[in-house]
Amino acid sequence: MPTEPNKSNWELAAALESARLCTDALFSRIRPDSLYERPIPERHRIVFYLGHLEAFDWNLICRGPLDIPSFQAKFDGLFAFGIDPDSSGLPQDKPADWPSLEEISAYNSRVRNTLDGVLQEVPPDLLHVAIEHRLMHAETFAYMLHQLPFDQKMGPHAAPRASGRRVETSMVEIPGGQAVLGLPKGDAFGWDNEYLRHTIAVAPFAIGKYKVTNGEYLAFVEAGATAPPFWVSRSGRWFYRGMFEEIPLPLDWPVYVSQEQAAAYASWAAKRLPSEAEYQLAAFGSGGEIGLSLDPARDNFDFQEWDPVPVTSSRQNQFGIVQPVGNGWEWTSTVFQPFPGFEPFPFYSGYSANFFDGRHYVMKGASPRTAAKLVRPSFRNWFRSSYPYVYATFRVAEN
Ligand SMILES: [Fe+2]
Repeated sequence: MPTEPNKSNWELAAALESARLCTDALFSRIRPDSLYERPIPERHRIVFYLGHLEAFDWNLICRGPLDIPSFQAKFDGLFAFGIDPDSSGLPQDKPADWPSLEEISAYNSRVRNTLDGVLQEVPPDLLHVAIEHRLMHAETFAYMLHQLPFDQKMGPHAAPRASGRRVETSMVEIPGGQAVLGLPKGDAFGWDNEYLRHTIAVAPFAIGKYKVTNGEYLAFVEAGATAPPFWVSRSGRWFYRGMFEEIPLPLDWPVYVSQEQAAAYASWAAKRLPSEAEYQLAAFGSGGEIGLSLDPARDNFDFQEWDPVPVTSSRQNQFGIVQPVGNGWEWTSTVFQPFPGFEPFPFYSGYSANFFDGRHYVMKGASPRTAAKLVRPSFRNWFRSSYPYVYATFRVAEN
C-alpha cells in the first residue's frame, strides 16, 4: 500500500470537506420526518447513515492511529457497521431504538471538529479511505433514497433526459490481448482489492457497442421474464421509477438490473456476460488506461444527474465501445475474488475479504452517482447477484 509521508494533507483535507458537503446535501433531500424510515428492508434505517459516516472516520482515524479517547463510546459502536444484506432475517429495530437527531448532530460536529484539528497528523492513506468510504456511501445512499416514496424527498431537480427512441444495437470485435488489472504498489491510492497489478490473456471476442437498453430488455420481459426492479407497470404500460418522478419507460436508457437478470437476458439472447478481464480490455485497451477524455456531464457520473441518460450520449473509445465508463455500472460474469498478492488493509481488514464468498460479482465503470475520485480503471465494485437496488447495467458478449 502506498504512503506519501512528506506530502501535506491540505489537498486531502479539501477533498474530505467537499465529500462532507456532498453527503450533507444528500441527507437534506429527505423530509426531516422521514429520517427514521427504512427504504430498503435489508438495510439500516436512514438515521444510521447520519451517524455512520462520522463514526467511521472517528474509529478509523481518531481512535486508531491518533488514539484520542472516546467522548461518546456508545455512538462509536452503534454507528460503526452497516448490515450485510446476506444476514439471515430482516432487521427488527424500531425508530425509538435510535438516538435523536440532536444527539447525532452534536456527535457529528464534535467528530468533525476534533478530526479537523489533527488532520495534518493523519497518514494520507487513511484520509483517502475516509474520503472514498464517504463517497461510496454517497452512492449507496442514493440507492436508498431512490426507494423512498417521492413525497418524502425534497429539493430541485432537472427533468430526466430521454428521447423515446430505440437504439440500433450492434457488436464490436475486440482483438485478443493482455487485459491490465489492478494497481502497481507504490502508485496512487487504491483499495486493498485493487492490488496487485497483473495481466490476463484475453482471446478475441465481441461485445455490445452500447449498454443493453430498456428498449431491448422490454422484448425479454414481453417473452415472460421478470421486469427490472426500477420498472413499474400502470394499466399495461411500463414506466421507469426515477429518483424524483415516474416517466414512460425510456427505451434508450441503460436497463438497471441485478446480475442474475443480466445473465438471464444474455443467455436468452444467445450471448453471455463479459468477464472482468474482457471488460477491462474492451474499456481500457492493452495499456490499461482510460483512453478517451471523460466528461462527467456527457458520460454521466460524479453526481451530474439523478437518473441515466441515453446510452448513445457518450463518445466511443478506440475499439468503438460507446460509454465504457459512466451512466451505470456494468455487470461482469466474474466472481469477486482477490488478485494474486492480495493483502487486506490492516486497519479495515473486512472491507473486501468479507465478500470473497463466491456469491458477489464484480461490476466496473461508474454510475450517475459515482464520484469522479472513484473513476479509475482499477476500481472494483461488487454486489450479490440477486441484489436489486444497484445502478448497474450490462453489455452482452460472445466468442
Ligand atoms: Fe460504511
